[in-house]
Amino acid sequence: MPVPMIDLKAQYALIRDDVNAAVARVLESQQFRGGAESEGFEAELAAFGQAKHAIALASGTDALLLMFKALGIGPGDEVITTPFSFFATAGALVNAGATPVFADILPGTFNLNPEAVRAAITPQTKAILPVHLYGQCADMDAFRSISSQAGVHLVEDAAQALGASYKDQPLGTGTAGAALSFYPTKNLGAAGEGGAVLTNDDAIAERLKLLRCHGSAVQYEHQIVGTNSHLHAIQAAVLRVKLRHLADWNEARRAHACYYFKVLGDLPGVVLPEALPGAYHVYHQFVIRVPRRDACVALFKERGIGCGVFYPKPLHLQDCFQQLSRALPCPEAERASREVLALPMFAEMTRDQQDEVAAALRDHLAAG
Ligand SMILES: Cc1ncc(COP(=O)(O)O)c(C=O)c1O
Repeated sequence: MPVPMIDLKAQYALIRDDVNAAVARVLESQQFRGGAESEGFEAELAAFGQAKHAIALASGTDALLLMFKALGIGPGDEVITTPFSFFATAGALVNAGATPVFADILPGTFNLNPEAVRAAITPQTKAILPVHLYGQCADMDAFRSISSQAGVHLVEDAAQALGASYKDQPLGTGTAGAALSFYPTKNLGAAGEGGAVLTNDDAIAERLKLLRCHGSAVQYEHQIVGTNSHLHAIQAAVLRVKLRHLADWNEARRAHACYYFKVLGDLPGVVLPEALPGAYHVYHQFVIRVPRRDACVALFKERGIGCGVFYPKPLHLQDCFQQLSRALPCPEAERASREVLALPMFAEMTRDQQDEVAAALRDHLAAG
């Protein structure tokens, strides 16, 4: 039985009427930017995220870029981050004019290693940018303490982690803000592109509102140079429908993760993901390490079972960053890139589908 990596049609089937009505509402209103849907979504997102402000933007990439701009991060500034993330994490830094400084990850959680970050701080360091990879918060106690000691900003790349928390503290706690992505395959996915920032800082929220609108609060008056980065009203309307289900969907993902732990726990050589104590993991991805990873990918493909490699090449090894970044040794990120395998994970997944994944993994290991 084929098993998809994610099944957006299954999700849509459950909410079709509400989504269709939401889209129709926007079309009837003919208001495609701002207005009731956008404002309603921002208020509901802030409430869901337990943050003072949610600023909706055109993408997660813009959420990062505009956060950096809001904080005045630019040329001459170094920002310490992980090399084991989606490209946008560091790409947005370069687009802001800053220099990414890559520090290694922890092998268990795949998240940025606080000790490596400490070692990477220089007088040029302006911020630390942990990524809550795969839906699990990085060690935020450690990063809050390092950033306050060093007197630098702390920004969260929470693109994969809406709904995650650390020691019951929501995203944005004690940081400048958390960047979110609503890329369609995210736990909260739009019908297109979208992003947002959650922040408790009034000044940053105001700055982001200016930046997303070419620096203008009053039409044709521009206080600063920003860009055009709005969440489309159709996306806002769709996301409002989906947001009502997100807590349940995240819980379903956690239940599926528990089942994977149960059925994969005894597989020789397979390393299951490590939970950071106190972290509420929303399992955007369920990522294991597996021997002979690339052969396993081939077998999954043959059987029509979805899987993914996030990420096959760490950022510090990407051609484009050779001149534009600085990197400490990152052996764990390099090892992870050779060993990780993301298994199918979506709220509507069935136990039969998970059993099929487990059987394929067992067959792969037996073939070795
Ligand atoms: C860790 C991380 N950061 C940033 C982004 C960028 O988000 P977007 O694709 O919405 O621009 C993504 C998602 O794709 C991501 O996974």
